[in-house]
Parts: sequence; structure tokens; C-alpha cells
Amino acid sequence: MPPQLRVYVPPHPLIKHWLGVARDAATPPPLFKSAMIELGRWLTYEAIRDWLPTEDLMVETPLGSCTVTMVNPEVPMVVVPILRAGLALLEGAQTLLPLASVYHLGLVRNEETLEASCYLNKLPREFHPQTRILITEPMMATGGSIMMAMAELAKRGVDPAFIRIINVIAAPPALQKLGGNYPAVTIYTAMIDEEVNHQGYIIPGLGDAGDRAFGT
Ligand code: URA
Repeated sequence: MPPQLRVYVPPHPLIKHWLGVARDAATPPPLFKSAMIELGRWLTYEAIRDWLPTEDLMVETPLGSCTVTMVNPEVPMVVVPILRAGLALLEGAQTLLPLASVYHLGLVRNEETLEASCYLNKLPREFHPQTRILITEPMMATGGSIMMAMAELAKRGVDPAFIRIINVIAAPPALQKLGGNYPAVTIYTAMIDEEVNHQGYIIPGLGDAGDRAFGT
């Protein structure tokens, strides 16, 4: 049977809380940015709980020795933030994954056609085959940006099963495109909203995540 897109909405009270703060139009930009950072942190926590490679080692304690389980630094972890709004989620992810390499991808949406185009691509030519990749993209509405990011990774030979997406709000058009093209990818999101308006904004959503995070 072909794999089916996995979309997790972790029932964590802090994720619900910070989503509420982010949705509120009265939240000022500095607090909105903090909410994004917290959502990045807690969604990453959920995404890596069964995914972060570990190894068993012997250590000497002050009083004896025992086996301990530690994060395996040999397996590369990568974060790909989609600029601009993915930068705030990255800040939260980095508090848990300080050793992860960060490859920025700058994508902008044409406001009329809603097509994404790339203005900055810092992805390497290829990745080590065991690399775990987290994409941070807060708003998945029409799916233009996330599909472009997935295509850039596919060009570099990355297996979608090694990719997890950290997202705040997802809408059906984006999920359908991901499911149809990259069903092995896994998504961790705070919420699924059902509607996208004619300007490509998620309803009720939280508005323009980049503008609100950076006060523009
Ligand atoms: N990008 C945003 O920032 N908000 C949306 O609702 C959709 C895309």
C-alpha cells in the first residue's frame, strides 16, 4: 500500500495556548514573535521525540558506571526555514537542536497569481543519506511554498520519509498537494483550518505571519 500523509496535531496545552496568542489580532508583533518561537519549540519537541537518533554509551558516574542514552551527533540534523516567517519557528527549534545545520530558503508569493518564487537558496548540492530534515513553514495555505521547498529537496535526492514539517496552521489545499506528491512526509501542526480565501490567506488563520512576526 502506498504511504499516507501523516499529519499530527499534538494535544499539548502550550501549543494550544501559543496558537491562541498568535491568532488574536490584538497581539503586538513582539508577543506574536514569541508565540511563533514557542510554537516552533513545542512542535519540534513533538516531532523529534521518536526521530532524534540516539546511541547507548558507558559513562563513569562519581560512584560507578552505567549505560546512558545520548543524542548521536554523527547523524546529521538539518533545519530548513522558509523565509521570512519560518525564521521565528527556527528560533524555537534551535533551542532543542543547537547542533542542527540551518539552510535558508527564501520564497516569496506573487500576490496576484499566488505562485511562489525563490529569491534565496542556501541548500547544499546534496545531503548525507541519513540526514533528518525539519522544514519550518508556519502557514500552509495553497501549498505553493511548501511544494517548492519539497521539490528543491527532492532534486537533491532527499527521501521525503526523512523530512518532517513544523507548521502552525495547515489548510486542505496544501495538505492535498503534499499527500498527492510526497505522501511519506510527516507534518506537525498546531491546527488545521478549513478555508483559504481568494488572496490565499487561511481563514480564520492568523493573518500574515511574516508581517506580524517582524512588525511590517
Ligand atoms: N501566509 C500567511 O502568512 N498567512 C496565510 O494565511 C497564508 C499564507
